[in-house]
Amino acid sequence: MSQVRFLTLARHIIEEERKHPEATGELSKLLHDLSLATKVISLEVNKAGLVDILGFTGDNNVHGEQVKKLDMFAHDMLVRAMDHGGHLCAMASEEEEYIIPIPKHFHIGKYVLLFDPLDGSSNIDANVSIGTIFSIYKRVTPDGEPGTLEDCLQPGIKQVAAGYVIYGSSTMLVYTAGNGVHGFTLDPAFGEYILSHLNIHIPKKGKIYSINEGNYLYWHPGLKKYIKYLQEEDPETHRPYSTRYIGSMVADIHRNLLYGGIFMYPADSRHPNGKLRLMYECNPMAFLIEQAGGRATNGVKRIMEIQPERIHQRVPIFIGSEEDVKMVEKFMAEAEANKKITSKG
Ligand code: AHG
Ligand code: MN
Ligand code: MN
Repeated sequence: MSQVRFLTLARHIIEEERKHPEATGELSKLLHDLSLATKVISLEVNKAGLVDILGFTGDNNVHGEQVKKLDMFAHDMLVRAMDHGGHLCAMASEEEEYIIPIPKHFHIGKYVLLFDPLDGSSNIDANVSIGTIFSIYKRVTPDGEPGTLEDCLQPGIKQVAAGYVIYGSSTMLVYTAGNGVHGFTLDPAFGEYILSHLNIHIPKKGKIYSINEGNYLYWHPGLKKYIKYLQEEDPETHRPYSTRYIGSMVADIHRNLLYGGIFMYPADSRHPNGKLRLMYECNPMAFLIEQAGGRATNGVKRIMEIQPERIHQRVPIFIGSEEDVKMVEKFMAEAEANKKITSKG
């Protein structure tokens, strides 16, 4: 018999809230609204394979109605589900250039929500796992007015909650509100997220590395050396490692969170800031992984301590099991030091 209690996400959030007598319940309601939006997205994702047959995307569907691409559908669904709940003062989405302040005719709340509505969208047509990533902050500007860019541009350490939903063989919601990482699986029959993974801990060291190796030529010399090191044979340190790379950050990180390992999207000579976005992808994942006992840096600095300058800013990221992330940092630091010695000599 499973040791995990039968507990819905809604119930779990209420129980967590009871541990904090000072809590107003606003964050709980926000998370609840957010989970509802992801259930709708999950349903739509499940229909994605029927796109060409039933015309779910493109300009018009069989009924002559306007239909949207799945990432825009997810974006619109999140905005529509969250703008009038009374908990938010602003939102920002990977799919929208500017921040989305909550209009004055709605009740304006004290939180800010940033999200990547659909992560791994290039995988949709291949029926490969994709996800939604979210990050929540408390506003820093005075209450009552629509939120501003200042509310959205806070470093990751200020996050009050973060998480993702993975649309995979099951739909799962994994979140943290700063008190561990918990995973809930959506029961498709009655549409509830049920606690399935209580207090997830990432192994201190893994046996998996995840990186787009096609970019090898453009990498930092220290990173090249590190990957070669992982491929060498040494039973004591469990090498060689296995490569696993899906190309959906949510799916790659979800697997590594459960099994241990390292996910990397580094800077390279063509992309000096890497590819992934600090506010929608890296900060929320860093919060989750740190809460699970792991580590997330840009190679030299903790992701969550980076002061953001732009909402769509990109950063290199090394994230996962603590010992693995420390090891790649060591390889890169050594290569930097060697570079300095060679250029001096
Ligand atoms: P998105 O679909 O939100 O644009 O994100 C795609 C991201 C991320 O999910 C993944 O890890 C990465 O792109 C894969 O990039 P490469 O194809 O360059 O490896
Ligand atoms: Mn993404
Ligand atoms: Mn996206």
